[in-house]
Amino acid sequence: MTLIGATPPAPTAGAHLGVKVRQRVLMIREAGFVGDVGVLDVCAGAGHVWRAVRQELALARYVAFDRKPRNQFTLKGEAAAVLATIDLAPFNVIDIDVYGEPWEPLLVALPRLTRQTVILFTHGHMSWQFNPSHALRRAVGLPVEWFIPTPNADVAFYCGQLALASIWQHVEILNARRASWVNVSYWALRVRPWSQARRRRARRPAASSPGAALSPSPAPPVDAPGDTASVSDARD
Ligand SMILES: C[S@@+](CC[C@H](N)C(=O)[O-])C[C@H]1O[C@@H](n2cnc3c(N)ncnc32)[C@H](O)[C@@H]1O
Repeated sequence: MTLIGATPPAPTAGAHLGVKVRQRVLMIREAGFVGDVGVLDVCAGAGHVWRAVRQELALARYVAFDRKPRNQFTLKGEAAAVLATIDLAPFNVIDIDVYGEPWEPLLVALPRLTRQTVILFTHGHMSWQFNPSHALRRAVGLPVEWFIPTPNADVAFYCGQLALASIWQHVEILNARRASWVNVSYWALRVRPWSQARRRRARRPAASSPGAALSPSPAPPVDAPGDTASVSDARD
């Protein structure tokens, strides 16, 4: 029975484990990273996801952070701070399996990428997350002083869409997958820095600036066959 208006349960570390694992394995295989998979996991939790991925793929490097480490192999750190400071060059997979908003760590990481990377992020949209954070407001140019009556799903959803659109300002998206439910979306993107875009006509959009995301986003550039962006919905 569905109770309309009831607050849905928060996702647990094990929620949709199979979907997360399949997404990661598929994206890594498609990217041709097998044999040299370097993972930076900034929301490692109990490590369920990558423990399961390891059953299917060998990892050359795996470095785990969490704001609340749950085992001796996980370093303590805030996702955005880690992604702003650590050398990203050894990693071709970045995992931001956060509860709630992924936008701040995601948008911090993208301009720092130096190589083709699979980047995974979870976007939770529970009723208690409907007020866009200051980080998200800054990213999309919405003044933090503006009062938004909460809960306000429309504003949060719109800001999230702007944050997604702003990804093009930082990197070229080669492939994208999304598995979505009412409360949560799991995104998996294969991206590369604009400096490595193969063709000149794949022009980098205007540089990011406060409010830039509020401008119409550029059309995705068309690249070599097999490199066109595709978004697929997967539901379990
Ligand atoms: C959905 S769980 C991750 C589950 C994990 N992928 C696994 O395989 O078990 C979310 C984790 O992100 C951590 N977290 C949430 N926000 C964070 C942030 N801003 N920086 C670092 N860790 C964060 C939480 O402490 C929690 O352990």
